[in-house]
Amino acid sequence: MDKQKAENQIKALVELLNQYGYEYYVLDQPSVPDAEYDELLRELRQLEKEFPELITDDSPTQRVGGKPLDAFKKVQHNVPMLSLSNAFNEQDLRDFAKRASGGTEEAVTFVCELKIDGLAISLTYENGKFVRGATRGDGNTGEDITTNLKTIRSIPLSIKERGTLEIRGEAFMPHKSFLALNEAREEQEEEPFANPRNAAAGSLRQLDPKIAAKRNLDIFLYGVGEWEGSAISSHGERLEKLKELGFKTNPEWKKCSTIEEVIEYVTYWTKERPNLSYEIDGIVVKVDNLEQQEELGYTARSPRWAIAYKFPAEEAITKLRDIELSIGRTGVVTPTAILDPVKIAGSTVQRATLHNEDLIREQDIRIGDTLVIKKAGDIIPKVVRTLTEKRTGEEKEFQMPTDCPACGSELVRLEEEVALRCINPNCPAQLMEGLIHYVSRNAMNIDGLGEKVVMQLFQEKLIHTMADLYRLEREELLRLERMGEKSVTNLLESIEASKENSLERLLFGLGIRFIGAKAAKTLAMEFKTMDALQQATFDDLIAVDEIGDKMADSIVQYFSEDKVTELLDDLRSLNLNMEYNGPRKSEADNDSIFAGKTVVLTGKMEEFTRNEAKELIESMGGAVTGSVSKKTDILIAGIDAGSKYDKAQKLGIDIWNEQQLKTVVEE
Ligand code: IVH
Repeated sequence: MDKQKAENQIKALVELLNQYGYEYYVLDQPSVPDAEYDELLRELRQLEKEFPELITDDSPTQRVGGKPLDAFKKVQHNVPMLSLSNAFNEQDLRDFAKRASGGTEEAVTFVCELKIDGLAISLTYENGKFVRGATRGDGNTGEDITTNLKTIRSIPLSIKERGTLEIRGEAFMPHKSFLALNEAREEQEEEPFANPRNAAAGSLRQLDPKIAAKRNLDIFLYGVGEWEGSAISSHGERLEKLKELGFKTNPEWKKCSTIEEVIEYVTYWTKERPNLSYEIDGIVVKVDNLEQQEELGYTARSPRWAIAYKFPAEEAITKLRDIELSIGRTGVVTPTAILDPVKIAGSTVQRATLHNEDLIREQDIRIGDTLVIKKAGDIIPKVVRTLTEKRTGEEKEFQMPTDCPACGSELVRLEEEVALRCINPNCPAQLMEGLIHYVSRNAMNIDGLGEKVVMQLFQEKLIHTMADLYRLEREELLRLERMGEKSVTNLLESIEASKENSLERLLFGLGIRFIGAKAAKTLAMEFKTMDALQQATFDDLIAVDEIGDKMADSIVQYFSEDKVTELLDDLRSLNLNMEYNGPRKSEADNDSIFAGKTVVLTGKMEEFTRNEAKELIESMGGAVTGSVSKKTDILIAGIDAGSKYDKAQKLGIDIWNEQQLKTVVEE
């Protein structure tokens, strides 16, 4: 075939296939059988193979392209990607409507949309070509995930619109894809994703677009960042225009001229939600008129012209089969409810923490009971209440053991603590938890060494102390179940690489009581070497800002133990770096909003217990302290927050409510 003819044919095929793709993926109304589409695609592939110079960017063959990336590039959002403030009940919605109408002379019309539970995405088109797709990130800077977004078939690679157009929407994983993915993962003994949102986020974070391509993600577009030359006066018109341009918009949006209509829409979808083929977590209500939107304006975090109504946390009823005990790295014994598997908020729950013995008594929880459970912040399963009316008389009261189930030594209840503790420093359960902490992300960050592998290594007696990790041998690792050549090579490489970590990671990883990631960093910056820290006195330590009596005591006590000296000598002889490497650029790399931040919690929270909130913040690299000072970065205030709130306000500290915490945790 001559080149001219091939060019024409390729052009025609690309256009036709894109049209068919649009009908299939955007409109959900295919006009040709799959086999016909596949045949045309084969033809196109063949031609493109013969004439690679004729391949165009918008060819459907170009959706899964190229080699895996090394890292995602950062993308600056010219128009920040804000968040939404939340409403939890009718009254909040009415208040919002009042505020919205107060700001303008004329009557206000609203557009209600489903709040898709996925992740916010920005798509940029230049002169009709899809050139860039990015995550929201912190709202100002996101990550360039163009190659992954190209694999979403409902995103057009080209559109009929000149100039620059940056639009926004929500990428998500439909239920069907989510179930199939988790089934496959379980078959391969991989950890299933907790919910479709996590699965979507995890898929788009893959550096290899081939993985994202297999995940069958989808997207709904609902907003605009930059758009040169669009003459549009309402949000409704904008949705129409986006649809006209070939974007997938959610068909369920509705114009409402009164707040009563809005509430009706909310009530309807609260009931209908389970019948959708994707997850929603609320309803977004937006002022329709764009001029009125402008008049209402924005706060630092969100527009005043929109609000997100969040559905109440889903609850489920299930049976308590048993109560198991787990021992943490500091020896705290935590009872865990073993439940009949039940689905809540997109995932199956089989365990819920019961925190401590007092809580079990307070809630009168007995083995065999029927319980109402929910997920705190839609994440952590917890017991809401016991349905005592369902008792048959067969239920058994739970007795906390007097001895540690792992090592048999007597459990103690330390003064002022509700928790029972095993204080045997050689308790195998504690040692194992200590190792899990040591390799974790905010500590030594050893890739490929997850909780399961550490447990396996420990149970096989291949590791006992942290130093043993560096003595692992290829042959013994290969003998373990599910450990192939490649994973062993990678694992050994990451263990070796972790030797270079800066002092603060090692310090945090050692698991010294009261020393979180932030204190470890302060200590590393101040003392520079492990030697200096080992020799530091109580007075040297409290002289450091942010190090209080309790921490100083704990550090001195820790370093005075012979076992610790032995461990550190051992690690030294294995060539571990024991020095502070200087400011890390990884601080900025760590995209958690809490990374390196000091957070104070105050007031009563509805969805999280203090401990849950603390654990979540710490797991994202933040430090939770007890009192507000100039060093505090964020105060999270629940209901009836008192003096800490006033102080934070005086000091100009960022104050969040519980919902903001929840939103961040979810994202
Ligand atoms: S409008 C200025 N509309 O909810 C923010 N957001 O809690 C404009 N979301 O970050 C957002 N469905 O990721 C909007 N129909 C919808 C949405 C929606 C889901 C997400 C979005 C946003 C978050 C805010």
